[in-house]
Amino acid sequence: MVDTNQGRRLVILGTGGTIAGRAAQAGDNVGYVAGQVGVADLVAAVPALAGMPLAVEQVAQIDSKDMGLPVWQALAARLQVHLDDCQVSAVIVTHGTDTLEETAFVLQRLLQPTKPVVLTCAMRPASALVPDGPQNLADALAVVRQGEAGVVVVCAGEVHGALEVAKVHTYRLDAFDSGDAGPLACVEEGEVRRFRSRGASVASHDPAPLARFLAADALPRVELVTSHADADGSLVRALMAPGAARPLRGIVVAGTGNGTVHQALTDALNAAQAQGVRVVLATRCARGRVVPHAGLPFAHSAGLSPVKARLALALDLLME
Ligand code: SIN
Repeated sequence: MVDTNQGRRLVILGTGGTIAGRAAQAGDNVGYVAGQVGVADLVAAVPALAGMPLAVEQVAQIDSKDMGLPVWQALAARLQVHLDDCQVSAVIVTHGTDTLEETAFVLQRLLQPTKPVVLTCAMRPASALVPDGPQNLADALAVVRQGEAGVVVVCAGEVHGALEVAKVHTYRLDAFDSGDAGPLACVEEGEVRRFRSRGASVASHDPAPLARFLAADALPRVELVTSHADADGSLVRALMAPGAARPLRGIVVAGTGNGTVHQALTDALNAAQAQGVRVVLATRCARGRVVPHAGLPFAHSAGLSPVKARLALALDLLME
């Protein structure tokens, strides 16, 4: 194992989730409340972290279904402080699984960290008979010890890139997948076995996007609609109705197959686009991307899933 972090501090930021969840009965893996156990207690349950130079902070304590701009701002701000500190080697973030892929995407896009930032989680609460959080935290430690820059997700012994990762299962411990790309690596008994490289990512040192994000009162309003049989476009027309508290700036449409969209929905989206709303096309297929071709009805999402395409568009609009 390559340990490039000798002598420097590891920071662990807690945000809640099932990893910090507690149920009334130890055998109850679904009837628990997320975000109950403090991150210091989660860390104390991991022998591999004992005696390490550590700083632990509770940034939030939420069920990640409720994730949004205020917690992202708090998290990004604390991450930036720690990443800028030459005494900090890496940051681990504990997080709920439900919106983990969105947080990973936002953090990678905004921070483009030059140190490891590992998001980890659990599918069983801390009170479970056999919680998976302690092992996931131990695996996250193995990954940060590699010293590789960028945001990754560690769950069930797999390491996923921020761009590709998606939650694909409601209950299984290995709830995450990276689609066609596959995981970056796996962790076996504290050893990281790499499957592929992350691919080239150009780190930007422009502080302006993060500053604008941290100062925002709200993200530009971008809604997500799905094309399906019997779609009639009425949802898009309702979104366009005057009088909304926040003006609609964009729509991501999760199209069928290779980015096809029901004609009635296409008509409504074209009308929205004609009024200045940006429309981006993703696919509702769990695997694959919208393969670019001349017949696509709207600009495609460059392989991003619908939820990540929504964030990418909102961030692009924020930076304009
Ligand atoms: C959450 O996302 O906060 C709850 C679900 C989970 O962490 O698995």
